[in-house]
Amino acid sequence: MSARRPFFIDTDTASDDAVALAIAFARDDIDIVGIGVVAGNVPLESGVQNALYTRELCGRTDVPVYVGASHPLVFPLGTAQHVHGNDGMGDIGLNLSGRVPNEGHAVDALIEASHQHAGSLTLVTLGPLTNVALAVRRDPALAERVSRVVIMGAAADHVGNVNPVAEFNMWVDPHAVQVVLDSGLPLEFVGWDISRRDAVIVPDEAQRLRAIGTPLAEFCIDIQAVVAAFCEHDTKLAGFDMPDPIAMAYAIDPDVATETRRLHLEVECESTVTRGMVVMDLLGFTRREPNALVVMHADHGRFIDHLESTLRG
Ligand code: BDR
Ligand code: CA
Repeated sequence: MSARRPFFIDTDTASDDAVALAIAFARDDIDIVGIGVVAGNVPLESGVQNALYTRELCGRTDVPVYVGASHPLVFPLGTAQHVHGNDGMGDIGLNLSGRVPNEGHAVDALIEASHQHAGSLTLVTLGPLTNVALAVRRDPALAERVSRVVIMGAAADHVGNVNPVAEFNMWVDPHAVQVVLDSGLPLEFVGWDISRRDAVIVPDEAQRLRAIGTPLAEFCIDIQAVVAAFCEHDTKLAGFDMPDPIAMAYAIDPDVATETRRLHLEVECESTVTRGMVVMDLLGFTRREPNALVVMHADHGRFIDHLESTLRG
């Protein structure tokens, strides 16, 4: 049997992050060496409790969860509680308090993991890039030790979910995005375009998945209650979408992507109109070297297979 792949996961744990964590927890070919929590969807303390709850439900208290940055590099924190619920987990009455995270800061833990697993570490980011930017600033050689960075963020079609052109994770902390884009890290983006096209769970599919009947299946569907309403009224999808889970599925199984492109990306930090927009140079106008691989299309069926096998336990 080949060695388990070391993963470090950075997350602003709310409803779709929790499903992505569950997918990773379920894999015996992945060694999750640490989970860092960052403020984003919800304030930091709430994200930490959500990650700890999910870890416990999945029976994976062996995986360390570290507390990270409580606010973006420059801007004040803007959360997405109107999307994920006040508690980030659909406000369905879960007991999301009292659990204790591991000692140590998420940024230190990421740097330490990159030394321990130099050349083989996959970093998966499911939230704003604040923790990663802080790690890069502290240790620019991080880029030489991490083998892949899979980022849920941006949108290759430049359609946003927080303003007309920006995706939430990039919008929260665009200055951190700038640091990461300039870092030399091997970046792979799974954008919100992929989520809203290839990772939408329509009501029939949600019912079928919940009917699997395991506690994890019920949890993963039930915590999407608030998100489902947001998708119906605001993003106008046929069901709820799963941005972090499809990014995680791709990190685990790159064949989830059916088309990728190497592109040059830049982020808008200043404009009040387009804050957080990640501009992808699709036609090569800038003549600049690509700084990221971008997933352009993904396989819905293959993603659902990953989700379903997780929920079956
Ligand atoms: C991203 O923003 C968050 O609300 C989700 O958890 C996901 O990471 C989608 O834009
Ligand atoms: Ca997230």
